[in-house]
Parts: sequence; structure tokens; C-alpha cells
Amino acid sequence: MAIYFIEKFKNLRKSRNLTQEQIADIFHVSPQAVSRWETGITYPDIELLPALADFFSVTVDDLFGIDINKKEERVYSPPEKTEESNLFSEKPIISKWVADMYDQKVTDTDDVGFLLSVVGEKPKKILEIACGSGRVLMPLAKAGHDVTGLDADEYVLAKIPAKAEGLKNIEWRAADAVQDDWGAGYDVVVLAGNILYNIVSDMDYAKAQELFIRKAASALAKGGYVYIDYSPGGDRLLDTKKESQKHSGEWVVWEGTDSEGNYGKMVLLAGEYDADTRLDRFTRRFEFTLADGETITQDIPCAKHFAPLQQLHRWLADAGFTVEQEYGGYDRSPIGEDSTRVVIYARKADESNIPKDSFYKSQGKNRPKLEDVLNDYLEGDILQNALNFVSWLRANKMAPQYISICASEIRKCERGKKKNRGGESS
Ligand SMILES: C[S@@+](CC[C@H](N)C(=O)[O-])C[C@H]1O[C@@H](n2cnc3c(N)ncnc32)[C@H](O)[C@@H]1O
Repeated sequence: MAIYFIEKFKNLRKSRNLTQEQIADIFHVSPQAVSRWETGITYPDIELLPALADFFSVTVDDLFGIDINKKEERVYSPPEKTEESNLFSEKPIISKWVADMYDQKVTDTDDVGFLLSVVGEKPKKILEIACGSGRVLMPLAKAGHDVTGLDADEYVLAKIPAKAEGLKNIEWRAADAVQDDWGAGYDVVVLAGNILYNIVSDMDYAKAQELFIRKAASALAKGGYVYIDYSPGGDRLLDTKKESQKHSGEWVVWEGTDSEGNYGKMVLLAGEYDADTRLDRFTRRFEFTLADGETITQDIPCAKHFAPLQQLHRWLADAGFTVEQEYGGYDRSPIGEDSTRVVIYARKADESNIPKDSFYKSQGKNRPKLEDVLNDYLEGDILQNALNFVSWLRANKMAPQYISICASEIRKCERGKKKNRGGESS
């Protein structure tokens, strides 16, 4: 909850272009007090909370990430150490080599061309998370967008200045995308290049993925978009449980010599996919013969969580996104079981555009009653699953509180249905 409050408060303040001193003036506290709220040393006094919430047009629950219908799950969890931890643990020599190999070997541009076509030509303010050495960031800047990139790896970021020479519309900074602030007010947040499946952190993997979706929502201006592009891992795209598998053998991903004359190989070693947790655990082995003849080997245990598409949809809906475009490849084909890529362009709700009751009245309609829509849902008349249903509510611009109540009621119904099904089969 503390992490949530810090980020939410900072983002709200920045989205209003206010300094800590200005907030201090408005609420008759010292600038040091505001700074302490933003570093998590203290919270604002309890009597101040309603005034703060009112000022930013949110509720006190919103400030703390509490959904009255779903208290437990809306709260950001602090990072938890797990055995899948794979923090940036390479030796610097390996990190430098990886940064060089990335530029030498990853030269495909299909995904970048596609991203440019979806984002459109009109200049936008774009944030790319995990921008690496700028493979995606640079073409976005060259196309006239105002871009910012974040990455935790200083060696990949060090490659950007030479590429960005002469460009005034590009910024980058070192940041851990799990722990650090993403900023606010962007038109588009880009989570491309498989980053949702390559997050390095010591947080539970699925929580880190969900956190990225929520942080994308906080970093966007009203009506902004999140762009997600990933490779779903073969038959792991959907929520249908598949067999656990052991992978055997070794796969040399990269082999080559870096700019300092160090020769190396990055090899993926045998691993294991657990169909229950959807975690794929494997080892990356780095084998090096350095320019001075020394040899080194380092094994780095890694894990990826293959969140099914349904779960990704649920995270998006919970963070207030409506999926507007979704493709199973760069040819704009629909997503199918065999899709090798998933591209999603989802819009953050612009609540100021959501009509109030008076809107429905002026259209000669009443806002639909919850019991009616739920009955239809339970009969299977409206849509097949809760996610589609919530997306439908958003697309039809139902009020956020109404959507949140429906989502929570549907979850309860689903849990009830699952229990019944369990009871029937036993
Ligand atoms: C496969 S590269 C993708 C780079 C770029 N997006 C692209 O498509 O070319 C993955 C990048 O994610 C970065 N990364 C992974 N976890 C991160 C985290 N927690 N915070 C910031 N960057 C992270 C790595 O440093 C690496 O540069």
C-alpha cells in the first residue's frame, strides 16, 4: 500500500504540474512533509486525506489502491524474494558483451514498423519501458515522436547517445521499472520486445507483470494507450492447461566477439516448464574467452511467467484499459491458438468522457440495471466471459464505479459457478 500511495501521489502531483512546494502551500504543510510522503517516510495526516483526494478528484481509496470490492488484490505488494529471482547479476564484462551482441544480432525491424503504423504519424509523447540500446526508441524519435526510454542496464543505455546525436526529442534514464517511478502524462506507453516476459526483478513474476500494466495506466494521460507486443510461447497463449515439460539440450543464442575483443557464447541450458504455475525455469550460461586469453563461465538461473491472454485481459480491464486493437501477427491477423505474436493496443478510460445518468436520460434511456445485465450474463446471453463483459461495459462508457461493481459481482458468480462445478464432478 505504501508503494502504491507514493507512486499515485507523485503521479497525481506531476500530472497537475505542481511542485512539492506548491502542494505544501496549498495544504499548509512544510515542503519537507510532502517530500517525506513521496519517499514513504510518513503518510499525510488522516484529516488531510479527504482534502487531498478531493483536490485530485479521486477517492481516498484510490490514493491507496483500494477497491472497496476487492480490497486484498488491489494493493501493490512489496517485492517478495522468490526462487525465480534473476536480478541483474551478470559480471560487467558479460553485460557489456550482451549489450554489443544485442546491437549486432537483433536487427529485425518488423515489430518496429508495425508499432509505428499503430501509433500513427501525429507526434505523440511516448514512454518505452526497458528500451535497451534504443532499437525501438530511435525510430520512434526519428518519426517525430517525443520519446523517453527507461532501462535498468547502464551498458545498453550507454549506446544511445551516439545514436541520438542531433535529436532533441529523445530522453533516456537508468531506472528499475519495477521499483522506480515511470512519470506521468504520456500518450503511449510501449511494452514491446517481449518485455512483459523478460522482466528482471526479485518480485513474484506474475505480480511484476500486473504491476507493469498498472504502472502503464498511471503513466498515461487520460485516453492514452498502452502498446504490448510479445511472443506467447507456442501453446501457452491461452488458459487451457497443457502438459509440464522438461526441455533438454543446449541452444546457442548468441556467439560473437564484442568491441573489446572478448569472444563469448550465450547458451540456453535444459530447463523445465511447470503447467500449474506457468513458470518456465532455465539457465543462461555465458562462456567467454577474453581478449587477454582468460576464460570465464557464469550460469544465471532465469524464469519467465507465461501469463495467459485471458489473464492479461483481466489485468488490463482492472487497470481501466479497453482493448481497441489486438493482432496475432504483424499482418494484422486475428489472434488464434497458433499465433506467434500478440500485439495489443489498449486505451485508458477517459473518465471525463463517461456520461452521467443525465446523458442516458437525454438519450431517452435508463442506465442498465445491474441485476438485468447479470441475469443476462448468467444466462450466457451477453458475452461468454467476464472479461469480455467488462470490456463491453467500458466500450459502452458505463461509469467506472458501475463497472467495478459488475466486475466484482461477476467474479463472485464465477467463483460460485466453479464451486458448483467442483461439487457436481466430485
Ligand atoms: C530484450 S531487451 C528489449 C530492449 C528493447 N525494448 C527492444 O525491443 O529492443 C530487454 C531489456 O529489458 C531490460 N529490463 C529487464 N528488466 C527490467 C527492469 N526491471 N527495469 C528496467 N529494465 C529492465 C533489460 O535491461 C533489457 O535491456
